[in-house]
Amino acid sequence: MPASASQLDLSDPLAHYREQFYLPGGRIYFDGNSLGLLCRAAERAVLETLQQWKELAIEGWTAAEPDWFHLTEQLAAQLCRIVCAPDHSITLTGSTTLHLQQVLATLYCRDDPRCSILIDSTAFPTDRYAVAGFLRSQGLDPSVHLLEVPVDAAGLLQEDAIAAALTQGVQMAVLPSVVFTTGQLLDLQAITSVAAGHDVRICWDCSHSVGVVPLNLSELQPDAAIWCTYKYLNGGPGSVAAMYLHPRWHDLPPGLAGWFGADKSRQFRMEHELVPAVGAGRLQLGTPHVLSLAALRGSLQLIEAAGVERMRQKSLQLTARLRQLLHEHLPDAGFVCATPEADHRRGGHLAIRHPLARQLSLMLRSRGFVPDFREPDLLRIAPSPLYSRFSDCDDLVVEIGRILAAGFEAVDLAQSLVT
Ligand SMILES: Cc1ncc(COP(=O)(O)O)c(C=O)c1O
Repeated sequence: MPASASQLDLSDPLAHYREQFYLPGGRIYFDGNSLGLLCRAAERAVLETLQQWKELAIEGWTAAEPDWFHLTEQLAAQLCRIVCAPDHSITLTGSTTLHLQQVLATLYCRDDPRCSILIDSTAFPTDRYAVAGFLRSQGLDPSVHLLEVPVDAAGLLQEDAIAAALTQGVQMAVLPSVVFTTGQLLDLQAITSVAAGHDVRICWDCSHSVGVVPLNLSELQPDAAIWCTYKYLNGGPGSVAAMYLHPRWHDLPPGLAGWFGADKSRQFRMEHELVPAVGAGRLQLGTPHVLSLAALRGSLQLIEAAGVERMRQKSLQLTARLRQLLHEHLPDAGFVCATPEADHRRGGHLAIRHPLARQLSLMLRSRGFVPDFREPDLLRIAPSPLYSRFSDCDDLVVEIGRILAAGFEAVDLAQSLVT
């Protein structure tokens, strides 16, 4: 007899984290893979920083606790612990998009006769645009040099196909750890090893894995990784992203340079020549976004305390339960699960295809559930291990059943214009 949702909630070792979060208007939130919720620690840290600004003004850069001048380094060290990366191999300076541009500008080598950059056909648009734009900036035609690994008939990426594509004149690859649509988790180790074997520099976009799937970058040894911090890390809307650079590249000059990439001990000498900081710190650009970093500082405390391994265990249980409930209770509803079933191939969200996914998503929102819809027919459901309950999954499936049973006539057309 499978455990009931209330039994699972009662025995959940992470259950107490829920009260640390602001749940929007009592709604049941399944959109943490787009924007994680605000936690009290993040709120406190932002309010503290505002107070510091009020009281210390310019002196906040040195006298605030922690001081703003080294805040990036403090958070980078926290992230190194969270993704098991060597010291000084992570920094935070701008958006994920900007970080990808930085990685490309730093690692791409114009002297290499292999000019192409590999992505996948499901790549998040910004990754595709960034790579295409970068190739153009190098005088190269993206229609020739931006290569794409296609998906298979089930819409999934196959590691073999990626491995095969890594050989054809490819110098760099930018791939997602977890595919933003289907939630497919790739075999990062296998692909990174193949890339290394072909001397292809690989950058993982880990936006959909950091904070929900444990990563060990020291073991994985990719050349670079980028990720946003507003999803499972709950850093807040548009919070400063992170990037990892393998120590083997720490002596390279930054492709994009700025004064906050300087060695901190001499930054204020205002020298004409940039003397870069140690490690990935040299990839920083301008003045840190202190308020944004403050929120992240608060939220990372919770992530470290909860532990990503434990979060992963619960996340897998939640998505497995959702899948099972949909299968058992709505077998004829026309859903196709786009997310692979095996635990080791699944990230933090469950994606289901349905011809009326858009209307379903709107109906759910109007009834207090917040899933997420992606064109043309994908409903993404992301239970977050820090604030979602097993009973939320049960309630969601019951609500989906009710909506399907009632039909879609009630969908307000005006609402359907809102995405
Ligand atoms: C895989 C992936 N990469 C990048 C981004 C966003 O990049 P940025 O933070 O620069 O907007 C997202 C946003 O959802 C994403 O899912």
